[in-house]
Amino acid sequence: MSKFPITRMRRLRSRAEMRNLFAETRIDQSRLILPLFVQDGIKSMLPIPSMPRQYRYAVRELPGLASEIEEAGIGAVMLFGIPSHKDRLGSGAYANDGIIQRAIGKIKDSSSLVVISDLCMCEYTDSGHCGIIRNGDVHNDLTLEAYRKIAVSQAEAGADMIAPSGMMDGQVAAIRDSLDKSGYANTPIMAYSAKMSSSFYGPFRLAADSTPRSGNRKSYQMDYANSNEAIREIAMDVEEGADVVMVKPALTNLDIISRARARFDLPLAAYNVSGEYSAINAAAERGWIDYQKAATEVLTSVFRAGADMVITYHALEFVKWRNE
Ligand code: PBG
Repeated sequence: MSKFPITRMRRLRSRAEMRNLFAETRIDQSRLILPLFVQDGIKSMLPIPSMPRQYRYAVRELPGLASEIEEAGIGAVMLFGIPSHKDRLGSGAYANDGIIQRAIGKIKDSSSLVVISDLCMCEYTDSGHCGIIRNGDVHNDLTLEAYRKIAVSQAEAGADMIAPSGMMDGQVAAIRDSLDKSGYANTPIMAYSAKMSSSFYGPFRLAADSTPRSGNRKSYQMDYANSNEAIREIAMDVEEGADVVMVKPALTNLDIISRARARFDLPLAAYNVSGEYSAINAAAERGWIDYQKAATEVLTSVFRAGADMVITYHALEFVKWRNE
């Protein structure tokens, strides 16, 4: 290793063109995945107060939106459905004419976007939990039976990829099995493998109306104190047949993204969650931070840590900034 004064690190930082030449990490919009909220029973989009410039869309607005996203060169969309009715069993999640099923169909009919559907029940259960409640807790194996049905209904609707986010044990194996038995052996699974129980989901839960009515999600989502356990969760999902694994939230788990990158050869996704998005927005609104620069720094750091793709609410605006 050469030392100062022979080596001067500042030589390669002298001007923008030089810095560009030596930047090790670049964001490619085809590696960004934009989450979309689609609500049943509305005629036009509603702003989401907890997430500036994000909306709940009506199904009929999706073709126009999809072409905008497609033209921007965004890699994929990740869909979340907001139903009109909730019940104990979350049955709206696997209804053939359910909100997410109709949304998938609409986007597939009108574009060639890659459509990833979030598979969870928290928007559909009256408890607001990610599965079926028995004796005061989410019952793992009963919930898996529901997840099997949801997976098949989403694949039938045309989803290109199924993304289970409920953190039930065995969910990837159950979904793989049900897809294979129903003629969807070629539909891949993007597993939310290491998903922490995080307060950074707060703005999303207001957006998707999925806050648990009582208790919290700590009996199924991970303790954010644990990184060895995160690696075990990912390894289990790989064994169960995941095609893509995910770490979530992104910014509070860069170390886990980095460990997972070193350990696994599968495509690795990271979810830059609602709280990360809204915190930057709130600080920028107060003039405390430069929004565009802060968002770009966050996204760059998540890719630098080793993510192959990032799910982010910044996706569309990022492309606009780049083209400005
Ligand atoms: C559903 C789900 C959540 C998110 C993605 N899928 C909420 C939760 O687990 O409470 C959060 C995404 C975000 O905050 O942007 N289980």
